[in-house]
Amino acid sequence: MQKPVVSQNKAVAEQQNFFHEIEKGLLAESASISPKFLYNPLGSHLFTAITLLPEYYPTSTEKTILSQYKSEIAEAVGHVTTLIDLGAGNCQKAESLFDFLKPSRYMAIDFSEEYLRDALENLRSKYPQIHMQCLGMDFSHKLILPETIPIDGRVFFYPGSSIGNFLTTEAQILLTQIKQQAGDGGLLIGVDLMKQDHTLKAAYDDDLKITAAFNLNILRSVNSIIGSNFNVSQFRHQVMVNHSQNRVELYLEALEDLSVSWPENFRFFKKGELIHTENSHKYTIDSIKKLLVDAGFKSTKIWKDPKDYFAVIYAN
Ligand code: AVI
Repeated sequence: MQKPVVSQNKAVAEQQNFFHEIEKGLLAESASISPKFLYNPLGSHLFTAITLLPEYYPTSTEKTILSQYKSEIAEAVGHVTTLIDLGAGNCQKAESLFDFLKPSRYMAIDFSEEYLRDALENLRSKYPQIHMQCLGMDFSHKLILPETIPIDGRVFFYPGSSIGNFLTTEAQILLTQIKQQAGDGGLLIGVDLMKQDHTLKAAYDDDLKITAAFNLNILRSVNSIIGSNFNVSQFRHQVMVNHSQNRVELYLEALEDLSVSWPENFRFFKKGELIHTENSHKYTIDSIKKLLVDAGFKSTKIWKDPKDYFAVIYAN
């Protein structure tokens, strides 16, 4: 099996960068933890469970759009040499494109390489005609593709409205990097559209409390990276809809006065104090088009569901 392209030294360096990044967030006046740390192996499985919840409309809606408009999408996208899957997870979404986009190569990229490796192993035996590679990479700061990927026919796939987890300025930088590396290809992206609060709150605070577990698990993920002693039972999951920023915000609220320590440092949390763990931006067609145009994309083709909950866009 192909090994992920993360050397031992790189892994250590990333671990150290993550230590400083996490520490900085924890020591800030308003504490925060980057959402990328939600996706340790358990977090990735919990996210997969979220996508199966009836309340979490983005995954099912996007799937319906992709399936309903597959001929039109295939026509708009044209010839695909390499399908580059950003945040591939269990690779199921990309797999659903294989029969109509017909890529000759598939490159799966994700933060959690361990989870990715397992997913890709299953896929390889099902599609022996597609050359498959996986890459464990944190592309939230910089997207660097291996030079071995041919420049012609690169199609980036960024589904699930994961772009919404970046601040607008960060999203702009990522989209610009994608455009610069897409050559004559393009970007097939899924984006969540702004909607009523009750629909958003149900999607991000489900009755089975899977999203709560997903959010709380970030504390265990942080414990394993920086050696801290967060106790998940001292926090609870909180969801807010921020209308001025057009986003859903996830927090962890301290249920009591407590202190958390890690090598050479510590932080007190007062009862009720919040740790900000995730933003999930919701777009209008105009706002996402503007982001894409500002990133250098010249044209966009858009497909939506009848309720206007979600949009799939091909930009090139
Ligand atoms: C991965 N990302 C697009 C999800 C979202 O909806 O923002 C992550 C998530 N957070 C809570 N539920 C799902």
